[in-house]
Amino acid sequence: MRLLLMLLILSFQNHLHVEGTETESERDALISFKSQVSHPTNSLSSWTASANSSYCTWYGVSCSKNTMNGARSRVESLSLPGLSLSGKLSYQLSHLTYLRSLDLSNNKFEGQVPLHFARLSRLELINLATNNLSGRLPAGLGLLKHLQVMDFSLNDLTGEVPNSFGNLSSLIYLALARNQFFGQNPIELCNLHNLNSFQLSENNLNGQFPTCIFNISSLEFISVTYNNLSGRLLQDVGHTLPNLKSLFLARNRFQGEIPSSVSNASKLEDLDLSNNQFHGFIPLFANMNNLTRINLGNNNLSSTTTLNYQLFDSLRDSTQLIELRIYSNQMAGQLPTIVTNISRNLQHFCFADNFLTGSIP
Ligand SMILES: *[C@@H]1O[C@H](CO)[C@@H](O)[C@H](O)[C@H]1NC(C)=O
Ligand SMILES: *[C@@H]1O[C@H](CO)[C@@H](O)[C@H](O)[C@H]1NC(C)=O
Ligand SMILES: *[C@@H]1O[C@H](CO)[C@@H](O)[C@H](O)[C@H]1NC(C)=O
Ligand SMILES: *[C@@H]1O[C@H](CO)[C@@H](O)[C@H](O)[C@H]1NC(C)=O
Ligand SMILES: *[C@@H]1O[C@H](CO)[C@@H](O)[C@H](O)[C@H]1NC(C)=O
Ligand SMILES: *[C@@H]1O[C@H](CO)[C@@H](O)[C@H](O)[C@H]1NC(C)=O
Ligand SMILES: *[C@@H]1O[C@H](CO)[C@@H](O)[C@H](O)[C@H]1NC(C)=O
Ligand SMILES: *[C@@H]1O[C@H](CO)[C@@H](O)[C@H](O)[C@H]1NC(C)=O
Ligand SMILES: *[C@@H]1O[C@H](CO)[C@@H](O)[C@H](O)[C@H]1NC(C)=O
Repeated sequence: MRLLLMLLILSFQNHLHVEGTETESERDALISFKSQVSHPTNSLSSWTASANSSYCTWYGVSCSKNTMNGARSRVESLSLPGLSLSGKLSYQLSHLTYLRSLDLSNNKFEGQVPLHFARLSRLELINLATNNLSGRLPAGLGLLKHLQVMDFSLNDLTGEVPNSFGNLSSLIYLALARNQFFGQNPIELCNLHNLNSFQLSENNLNGQFPTCIFNISSLEFISVTYNNLSGRLLQDVGHTLPNLKSLFLARNRFQGEIPSSVSNASKLEDLDLSNNQFHGFIPLFANMNNLTRINLGNNNLSSTTTLNYQLFDSLRDSTQLIELRIYSNQMAGQLPTIVTNISRNLQHFCFADNFLTGSIP
């Protein structure tokens, strides 16, 4: 995921050139931004108001070249991550109307995300992760139809996830983890047909998780752990999510059975459904070569001696398996000797607190 983000950021930086004359409104916007920011490491010292200092050369600022006449450089990217910057985000940044990439992650910005950011209509990446932003996210951000990456993780944001985000048809990466979002996940998010990563873990979301999210075939990474969500997996989830690598639903109130189609998600690496209310038989995981972690602990899953045998036999091809945890369930019968045949890489094997009989082979 980080890699995807890096690649996107790099692809922006590769296209930037510095040339041409500049506009007063862009200069004013940057100066206004700076005036509200404290920069303890002097990282913004190159940002001087004097008219002969080209803002395109300022630290963290990259401009586009006008291919028509070389005139008018416009700020295309503002990239100031990890500089301990603090203060409020100036709404005047919205005057940088050519901005494609805004990365102010890993600083100490506080206050609200300005409503005016909805005017940054060319924005493709907004990364404000790991700051101290509060209040609600502006619904107007749903107008940013070129947005591919939205990361507001690790802030103090609240309110409901705006249903307008379902209009972000270019979105690939949605990360709102570790905030105080509450209420339901809007069903409109199911319209995000290019989504690759859906990260809403560690919020206060509740109600029914929209099953149609499990129908977005581009998804590789889903994490909604540590919320209060109920809902079920789609019966044919292994077919509707053919690209799935990570599914983290732990610490919620998901119910129903774990569909046997899970094993058709053949790229799956991490499966954590622990601490929910899943019941029924444990599915088989046949032909899943890249499985590394399975945690189904603390549910209400059951088994028999025969099913235990089939389960461990099905894991024959999962030679990368490092963790297998099915503690605190209703597993019954005996553990077959074939248990000793699963992955050599196994480091964690936890079946405590079940109804298994006999000895450990
Ligand atoms: C900007 O202009 C002032 C006077 O007009 C001059 O003293 C100064 O050296 C110039 N700065 C740069 C970076 O060119
Ligand atoms: C975050 O902001 C709140 C006010 O909204 C403040 O009380 C708190 O100290 C800030 N935390 C950090 C780590 O800066
Ligand atoms: C999504 O976009 C459509 C068309 O532009 C608009 O009619 C609708 O109100 C938008 N939905 C939300 C929730 O903003
Ligand atoms: C999933 O998508 C298929 C076809 O695109 C549709 O028929 C089905 O109703 C959808 N299921 C859910 C739960 O959204
Ligand atoms: C979780 O949701 C249920 C049902 O809406 C509610 O009864 C319960 O209090 C919620 N738990 C928390 C910790 O919010
Ligand atoms: C789904 O997985 C099962 C068990 O591995 C396999 O028998 C079946 O052929 C798969 N179906 C599809 C459509 O891949
Ligand atoms: C398993 O992982 C390897 C290495 O990342 C990859 O080349 C391969 O395509 C993956 N297998 C499946 C079935 O996705
Ligand atoms: C677990 O399953 C048993 C037997 O199927 C049932 O009696 C019990 O109510 C279930 N417990 C929960 C918490 O779902
Ligand atoms: C364990 O694996 C080996 C080698 O793949 C195989 O020969 C043997 O029959 C397996 N043991 C069981 C109990 O299936």
